[in-house]
Amino acid sequence: MTSMKDKIVKKLLASNGEAVSGQQLADEFNVSRTAIWKHMKTLQEEGYSFETIKKKGYVLTGVPNTVTAAQIKAELQTEQFGQDIYYYDVVDSTQNIAHRLAQDGAKHGTVVISEEQTAGKGRLMRPWESTRQKGIWLTVILRPDVPPHRAPQFTLVTAVAVVQALQELLVQAKPQIKWPNDVLINGKKCTGILTEMQAESDVIQALLIGIGINVSQSEADFPKELQSIATSLKLEEGIDIDRSKLIATLLHKLEIYTALYVTDGFDQIRKLWEANSCTIGQRLEVTTARETFIGEAIGITNDGVLRVQKDDGEVKEIYTADIKI
Ligand code: BTN
Repeated sequence: MTSMKDKIVKKLLASNGEAVSGQQLADEFNVSRTAIWKHMKTLQEEGYSFETIKKKGYVLTGVPNTVTAAQIKAELQTEQFGQDIYYYDVVDSTQNIAHRLAQDGAKHGTVVISEEQTAGKGRLMRPWESTRQKGIWLTVILRPDVPPHRAPQFTLVTAVAVVQALQELLVQAKPQIKWPNDVLINGKKCTGILTEMQAESDVIQALLIGIGINVSQSEADFPKELQSIATSLKLEEGIDIDRSKLIATLLHKLEIYTALYVTDGFDQIRKLWEANSCTIGQRLEVTTARETFIGEAIGITNDGVLRVQKDDGEVKEIYTADIKI
């Protein structure tokens, strides 16, 4: 349910710099002016700032550098995704919190987000750098009605949603997908996706889709060993990107493409994925648990498996691997 604070922020954001009076807010939300005044004080304590124009009302002049549930909700256009948001200042990993919430019955589309992660998890048990307030560190809980063998495709569904959300907000930078789950700009990684599952026999209880987007790091904010391979939206686009807007846009795309995949299967997603990929048509070095080989990426299957043709003509289907372009 949207709280009164969320409604006030949404109204002030929508007024585009025009003053909104306390009386107007009180009438619209059917509460007293004193109640509105108390909410304004709480919002100020949370980092919002307002100019109070005599006889006219409040103008929103600043939002906190945090990403609050209220700010995200003010931008949301979804039906389910992000209707429940668990917002934290610091956690070990949003994946861990999401696992617990999912076990306690959190509903489809619930979002866990934190300003900082002290033990962010990457793929293949790698750590994920999650510097305070410099990125988007979130997990979405999904409860899709599909069998567990269709779970891996959600990583590719998510990559399509991320790329489209970024394309909507970025003007200069051109994000592209690197199989299976990285989003790159100019060949450097700006986003990682980690899909974890809770399943019982042949039923998915929950999918935990972890998304990490580097938003405003400078080069020096990345550890030395990542500086040549990682980037942020600010480094590529040259300006700060509004994290709340990006989260809201991402949740909208994710809601659309998750539903599309569940109802219509992978075919449409596959086409979108291939159209936005920098992997297809490239020569790759593929390292699986068993071998390393060179070949050309020729497409993905309807299961999201990468097809790589070796120089001797043999086509390999790659389920899990590290690839170098
Ligand atoms: C990867 O590319 O290795 C996947 C990185 C996934 C990082 C995100 S950040 C939010 C969520 N919480 C985590 O601990 N990991 C994922």
